[in-house]
Amino acid sequence: MNNKTIRAIKGTQDILPEESIKWQSLEDQIRKITSHYGYHEIRTPAFEKTKLFSRSVGEETDIVSKEMYSWTDQGGEDLTLKPELTASVARAFIQHNLGRINPINKLYYIDALFRRERPQKGRYRQFHQFGVEAFGSEHPEIDAEVIALAISIFKSLGLEGLKLNLNSIGSPECRINYRAALQKFLKPHFSELTETSQKRFNDNPLRILDTKASHEIKILEDAPNISDYLTNEDQTHFNEVIEYLDILEIQYKLMPRLVRGLDYYTRTTFEITSSNLGAQNAICGGGRYDGLTEMLGGKPTPGIGFAAGMERVLLLMKSKQFNKNKVQIYIVSLGEKTRATVIKLAQDLRNQSLNTEFDLLRRSLKAQLKEANKMNVKYAIIIGDKELESNQLEVKDFLTGNQQKVELNKIIEHMNSLSF
Ligand code: HAM
Repeated sequence: MNNKTIRAIKGTQDILPEESIKWQSLEDQIRKITSHYGYHEIRTPAFEKTKLFSRSVGEETDIVSKEMYSWTDQGGEDLTLKPELTASVARAFIQHNLGRINPINKLYYIDALFRRERPQKGRYRQFHQFGVEAFGSEHPEIDAEVIALAISIFKSLGLEGLKLNLNSIGSPECRINYRAALQKFLKPHFSELTETSQKRFNDNPLRILDTKASHEIKILEDAPNISDYLTNEDQTHFNEVIEYLDILEIQYKLMPRLVRGLDYYTRTTFEITSSNLGAQNAICGGGRYDGLTEMLGGKPTPGIGFAAGMERVLLLMKSKQFNKNKVQIYIVSLGEKTRATVIKLAQDLRNQSLNTEFDLLRRSLKAQLKEANKMNVKYAIIIGDKELESNQLEVKDFLTGNQQKVELNKIIEHMNSLSF
């Protein structure tokens, strides 16, 4: 490759045909399972006003403070490529007054997102998520349903060794009290904290719980737990979520330190991790966001959802067999005069929903048969000058090796009667 060649941007990936088969199969499964649970697709624009994310995800979060692709356009508007979808979907929910049309709105999405993170295995600058957002119910049944839906999709894809980590971070009031308690606990250790944690100490001390530094993890061992700060209502809500998960036989691990990195969360938060992914082990994250629509200027509406990283899911699906869209018929032709017949015949067969190929390189008979063999086709139709003159084509069955003569005007009917 010379230095004039333009390459894709760091952290972005081309999805080539071999890979896109896997993507399609994943997408089919997502659409199938979400429909079992009554979810409908929503698609939102690739970019939004920057303030949508700063107001909902939060100014102090990593996403908003350092990872967004933002710019001011020619009209002076501050815009951002979507770094996540919950905010966009909530914006659309409010804008189109979906809550007035239906008391419950269950939405799913499959989309590309952008975060300027340091690329590594499972972490990209353009990545894809599928996820759901359910607006309208504050009750724990929907928390359990959303979690069960995520697990069903992963199960249907044959993923193994997944762990569900679960917590409740309560309502904003308990977060205020917990925040103060955490600061009080960490104050005597302030000088031992990393620079990042020292910065978070004032802005967003709960984020310190996400630390990967081993000496900080040690300090945090004795830190207060948010579960001790839940109101009675929050605790009852969480107990019911757990009860429903038990009824659904969904296993979970209670993780009192799981606070998640986005500001809009309330009450139930969860993450699904895999031990087969290395450092980027979270395949899915989600939770409740009962204050989000209000933050964005809409009517107060409870909501809960999750999103899963599709590249990470696909890394785990590696060994699965995927169905290729196979070529069924190859038309082998020889001689200039046959070309018009061949192009018309291919079109007619394709119109009958038969996957048909013919030679576009004007190759020899032998090379075409070799190609048909390589494609693993079931049948070849052979047309040469002789066949054209006699109106009798040869149909070769690649499995048995049998060859049969079929009249040109009966060929469509004949091919349709065969099994593929
Ligand atoms: P999140 O935890 O930021 O949550 O992202 C969800 C999932 O997206 C992660 O668990 C991971 O699998 C994947 N992901 C995130 N960043 C990257 C990246 N740079 N490269 C590859 N995969 C990535 C949210 O986005 C929330 N909106 C989820 C949610 C929906 N909460 C409620 N509803």
